[in-house]
Amino acid sequence: MNAFTNEIIKKYYSPSSKAGSILVSHSKAVAKKALEIAENAKHLNPDIGFIEEASMLHDIGIFLVYSPDIGCYGKDPYVRHGILGKELLEKEGYKDYASVCERHLIITEKEIVENKLPLPERDMVPVSIEEEIITLADKFFSKGVEKDVTYERSVEKAREVVSKFGEIKTRNFDYLLKKYNLIRK
Ligand SMILES: [Fe+2]
Repeated sequence: MNAFTNEIIKKYYSPSSKAGSILVSHSKAVAKKALEIAENAKHLNPDIGFIEEASMLHDIGIFLVYSPDIGCYGKDPYVRHGILGKELLEKEGYKDYASVCERHLIITEKEIVENKLPLPERDMVPVSIEEEIITLADKFFSKGVEKDVTYERSVEKAREVVSKFGEIKTRNFDYLLKKYNLIRK
């Protein structure tokens, strides 16, 4: 966590709050994993500095959703934490970081329409190399409901968790696992 990400997080979270401590621990774990993935994907020329910062901010919207398990008592359903984080970071003037918040959930327009999700009707899937790497890293960690926040799931366990959320997410996750050499092609 550097001064830039620390300042934004501090603006919205008290470090001693449950939500604040989960957010920071989770985001640090994701950042570490994302940097590890990026290290093995040098041929794709990922922006390391951006990956580290955007990993710290990808879940910044959680305080606006209702998820008491992780100390969040906002009004919105959990599925909106990405778009809410995006809106927040856009207001702060950080458009590139904002996109990571929206896209790390891997939700397609089709799913939004079919399931009548409370989200704008557009694809919310990672597009850039950096977005892909952060999204992939994120799926190796929970926010503490299942186990310790920093506990890293095995590839099999991460796949199992992702598969509960449907075929599209599983397909996208498998694509990322292969692209970033976390499973054999
Ligand atoms: Fe996350």
